Amino acid sequence: MSTEIKDELQLEVQRRRNFAIISHPDAGKTTLTEKLLLYGGAIHEAGAVKVRRSQRHATSDWMAMEQQRGISITSTVLQFEYRNTQINLLDTPGHQDFSEDTYRTLAAADNAVMLEDAAKGLEPQTRKLFEVCKMRGLPIFTFINKMDRPGREPLELLDEIEQELGLQPYPVNWPIGMGDRFKGVFDRHKRQIHLFERTAHGSREAVDTVIDLGDPRIEDLLDQDLYYQLKEELELLDALGSDLDLEAVHGGKMTPVFFGSAMTNFGVQLFLDAFLEYSLKPGHHSSTIGDIPPDYPEFTGFVFKLQANMDPKHRDRVAFVRVCTGRFEKDMTVSHARTGKTVRLSRPQKLFAQDRESIDAAYPGDVIGLNNPGVFAIGDTIYNGQKLEYEGIPCFSPELFAYLKNPNPSKFKQFNKGITELREEGAIQIMYSQDDSKRDPILAAVGQLQFEVVQFRMQNEYGAETRLELLPYSVARWVAGGWEALNKAGRLFNTVTVKDSWGRPVLLFKNEWNCQQVQSEHPELDLRSSAPVV
Ligand code: G4P
Repeated sequence: MSTEIKDELQLEVQRRRNFAIISHPDAGKTTLTEKLLLYGGAIHEAGAVKVRRSQRHATSDWMAMEQQRGISITSTVLQFEYRNTQINLLDTPGHQDFSEDTYRTLAAADNAVMLEDAAKGLEPQTRKLFEVCKMRGLPIFTFINKMDRPGREPLELLDEIEQELGLQPYPVNWPIGMGDRFKGVFDRHKRQIHLFERTAHGSREAVDTVIDLGDPRIEDLLDQDLYYQLKEELELLDALGSDLDLEAVHGGKMTPVFFGSAMTNFGVQLFLDAFLEYSLKPGHHSSTIGDIPPDYPEFTGFVFKLQANMDPKHRDRVAFVRVCTGRFEKDMTVSHARTGKTVRLSRPQKLFAQDRESIDAAYPGDVIGLNNPGVFAIGDTIYNGQKLEYEGIPCFSPELFAYLKNPNPSKFKQFNKGITELREEGAIQIMYSQDDSKRDPILAAVGQLQFEVVQFRMQNEYGAETRLELLPYSVARWVAGGWEALNKAGRLFNTVTVKDSWGRPVLLFKNEWNCQQVQSEHPELDLRSSAPVV
């Protein structure tokens, strides 16, 4: 490899950041995304939120935004350039789209932004996504949103993060007032006050007046009671101690916290600037030949998501690949680790539909979308140079379960072929009852949409009609140590045991409470909410 290419690679890695937003529906993910685009210069005016929201049922939020604005967004990745840094924002599908893909996206992310509604604090979907981030040791940046509305006390919100997630919060900025009286934020590092002026529905960048804490103009600009409240709170924060420890942030032990209001743009730019400074660049990935650094000269990557187009007129499938190392080039030929085949990566434009420039090359931290004529499965590695395979993406705890019935015995072959292929591809998890007389596969999904996709594809791609029979469970746990550990524990109550596709025992519970009960009665059982793919 020439030094020129090596330098180019290093430069591209240095100027890349990639992250996913984890949040609960309605916390403001779409609004924040839009505002990040506004500051990133990808759009010039935010708005049309209502139109977008009404389209939510049909397509993901970002797809709708793409249609309206004609900019380079897909439901999987959104790229924009900010202060000479290429930012890749990976979509974590929520709402109706919540599925195992939401978790898998986090396997392709280097950083996570945890978005909270200031009035609600931590919510269920955020907690679940946090667990996956924790498992991966991702750095987490917290944005506490909707400060322009009455919310919970900032200190209480920080305490909740610390107590419930075991993550040490470090407020990078501090809110001045709340609700109608939310005036801005204090930047604790520069010791400056940012006072914002509202623009109509936050459609343009907020006007930001910056003054030092000791500036006498403060008395004119800020109500006295807010000023004294701020001083008091800052003293308290300083007394509480602890500095921002970047090593702890990068290890997923400490979270830098930002307060703001995405709707009015307050604090969005400060957040983005700090994120650029503190976030992790594309990093190492472990593989069968050891840890691979991003400046490893050959192109390598792994598939983290497959998307089947549901439109019968465009029955294509796209495999989304996270570039781990090297330079991706259009039409390049790579090896496919699982099958040993050689694959030509043509037509990557699927992902960069409107962004012609991006078609030709991609670098570590980027995501490319490849047409997938059935070659790829979740977790597949593609590589050039020495053979290597990245660690697979684990199975995540499903929450919805249903028998999939074949009402038409003459279609037995098609039904089985469909189930096998969809399982191998990672569209859904398949489990089986221990009772051999119940041979119907159990579909196990993270979101309802996965059931719909499976039924649709069984019918359209395999010609097999199917019927769902829902099962009353909502929690699944794998047992570390397998059948031996489970048999040792003896009889368990309020749970059923099924087998996953690899024959491993999985306990299904009606609710979290039953799961906790079994765990407390059998502390010797090591119950896991995810399991490696074998
Ligand atoms: P999501 O993608 O996380 O589900 O949330 P989304 O951005 O769609 O926001 C959910 C609701 O919260 C929207 O209101 C949105 O305008 C509002 N919102 C987002 N950020 C803020 C904020 O900083 N302050 C306030 N006050 N509201 C915020 P909606 O009433 O459901 O829709 P719309 O009528 O505003 O379009």
